[in-house]
Amino acid sequence: MIVDVVSLFPEIVSAALSHSIPQRAIDKGLAQLNLIQLRDYGQGNYRRVDDYPYGGGGGMVMACEPLGQCLDALLEKNSYDEVIYLSPDGARFNQPTANRLSLGKRLLLLCGHYKGIDQRIRDRYVTLEISIGDYVLSGGELAAAVVVDSLFRLLPGAMSDETSALTDSFQDGLLAPPVYTRPELWREMPVPSVLLSGHDAEISKWRHEQALERTRLRRPDMLD
Ligand code: ADE
Repeated sequence: MIVDVVSLFPEIVSAALSHSIPQRAIDKGLAQLNLIQLRDYGQGNYRRVDDYPYGGGGGMVMACEPLGQCLDALLEKNSYDEVIYLSPDGARFNQPTANRLSLGKRLLLLCGHYKGIDQRIRDRYVTLEISIGDYVLSGGELAAAVVVDSLFRLLPGAMSDETSALTDSFQDGLLAPPVYTRPELWREMPVPSVLLSGHDAEISKWRHEQALERTRLRRPDMLD
């Protein structure tokens, strides 16, 4: 899958994705990440990309013309499954959306800054608006990195253990059960004996019960 990210701070996105599973997906050729510097489409000697908001109020707005030129150039060359704008007023990102997007061939992510982007760009180009939670970040870059990380790890072959994405929290509508590794006894705290039993059916049953209990306690909303 190919992901193009338009941003004023592409280093934030690349820093977050150049380690661990996302970097491995890129190294294996399963994923490609293209960072597009919006400033290159800025206007005048200062390559300006923002302007004052009509109607007043604080903060700056990312203007139509640089974004329009940048997006036109990308859309002329490529076709996208979705053009995504990261914004706190978007639809809340979740695992089903990650699963669906990970099946796409090519995505375009647009990171806003300041007070956001001119509404006309959203109206003209954007097909999906995503929020990663009910809080406001300084820009869309960290949100874009969160979204891309969640997609790249789902690509077949990105993880060493092929089954591991399936056992993630949320994949079956439940939080993941607790996990343990060696030693068997640590500071008088033992590993639950069922995990040492070698009995696969018992272990699966225990994990499911633990996942249910954890979800009931921590995220009852998920069971509604
Ligand atoms: N940009 C700023 N805050 C954001 C959020 N919570 N989700 C997505 N994009 C954002």
